[in-house]
Amino acid sequence: MEVSSNNKISGIFIVAALVLLGVGMLFGVIGGVQYMIPGFLKDSFSFEKARPLHVSAILFWIILAASGALFTYLPKHTGKKIWSPLLQKIQLGLLLFTVLAIFISYFMGWFGGREYWEFPPILSLPITLAWILFIINFVKSLGGFSKQPVYVWMWMTGLLFFLFTYLESNLWLIPYFRSNIINDMTIQWKSYGSMVGAWNMLIYGSSIYLLDKIGGTNYGRSGMAFGMYFLGMYNLMFNWGHHIYTLPTYGWLKQISYFVSMTELFILGRIIYEWKKTLSVANRLGNHETYRFILAADSWIFLNLVLAILMSVPGINVYTHGTHITVAHAMGTTIGINSFLLLAFAHDIFSGDQYSYHYHPKGFNLGFWLANVSLLAFWLSLILSGILKAKWQMTPDAERIPFGEMMIKMKPLFVVFGVSGMVLMMGLLILVVNLVRNSKRV
Ligand code: HEM
Repeated sequence: MEVSSNNKISGIFIVAALVLLGVGMLFGVIGGVQYMIPGFLKDSFSFEKARPLHVSAILFWIILAASGALFTYLPKHTGKKIWSPLLQKIQLGLLLFTVLAIFISYFMGWFGGREYWEFPPILSLPITLAWILFIINFVKSLGGFSKQPVYVWMWMTGLLFFLFTYLESNLWLIPYFRSNIINDMTIQWKSYGSMVGAWNMLIYGSSIYLLDKIGGTNYGRSGMAFGMYFLGMYNLMFNWGHHIYTLPTYGWLKQISYFVSMTELFILGRIIYEWKKTLSVANRLGNHETYRFILAADSWIFLNLVLAILMSVPGINVYTHGTHITVAHAMGTTIGINSFLLLAFAHDIFSGDQYSYHYHPKGFNLGFWLANVSLLAFWLSLILSGILKAKWQMTPDAERIPFGEMMIKMKPLFVVFGVSGMVLMMGLLILVVNLVRNSKRV
């Protein structure tokens, strides 16, 4: 059931997220230039600052856009308004305040956290509080869990697990947990792996909602979708096995967890593939931009699946670990799958009745193709750099060329990485600017 009273704040979540995507990419491009020209801006804005600024901005792009999509699709599903717009506003305010504080702390060189969340740990408090408010507002707005489609379960699971894994990722602050290095690292990487699984639940949930909305289908209640949900849940609990390949824990656990995480991507890809076949021409044309991003995400699911399967072979993983192949996997999935699906939601939401959306075919095509083609070059350059580095690491000490010489050999690949990163940013910015301009309500 559609509601026209979909509130304004949900749209603001998405606009704020899009702005962070733009800002985050800018920091990423600075990092990319530092790959090409080592030492670039070393004294004023070193890689040690550019990287966390990039990663934090991008994480908040994902979190805020996924929240905005959920807040938009939930009332459409229930036919009722969001329970508390006030809580929604406080949540948004807390998150934006934290992002600003994180940026300031990085600029000032105040760190103290751990990789991906390198800001002073005190800032975890507003993030946790915002998330608790989110859960309360979701449960109250939903009304009940009886006979709900799979996307509602995915949203709920994603919300709860994000809170759980976020708290878990902060356990190192307690001396008991950080006193044993193996336990400490296992908990750390487990929480990060599961956290990605949690936001994937939020994003995949909204994807299934959207597929049903566009196609008039009922995947949300199909056995396949529930199968994916249970696999996804297993995945978010156990997928962390591959993060700790190099730590001495049980081998069988790592294998099973990796196998399951592959299955999840495979099923999501298959659902989109099957859905595509059921769509009429009118459905495709009527949802043109959204549809194209869903298809692009489907292709990226396939490419990342191939890479992930290769990386999951323990004999290969030992060498790829800590190389640019890991970065290719992280960026390939967060851009090609997560961000493209989130951009599909943003196009769907801002082309809705309540927004004065104007479609610019030329602008859209330019942005879309620049982003996809450059992402391919970007991703391949990282994989090839990773292969070179892995080969270097494998070479016996006596035959190995010095590190500096190896870096010079990799330079052409870093140039491809940096330049394609700039083009990727330009392509996505065209789309971001168009979306923000279209976010005015009528
Ligand atoms: C939607 C856009 C983007 C997303 C979602 C994204 C995501 C990420 C993520 C998750 C990481 C952490 C990787 C890891 O630790 O393994 C990362 C690192 C990085 N990204 Fe991006 N990124 C985006 C765009 C860009 C662009 C346009 C550039 C430009 C060159 C860029 C350059 C970098 C660099 C230099 C790093 C650090 C790699 C390292 O640690 O060596 N990113 N990005």
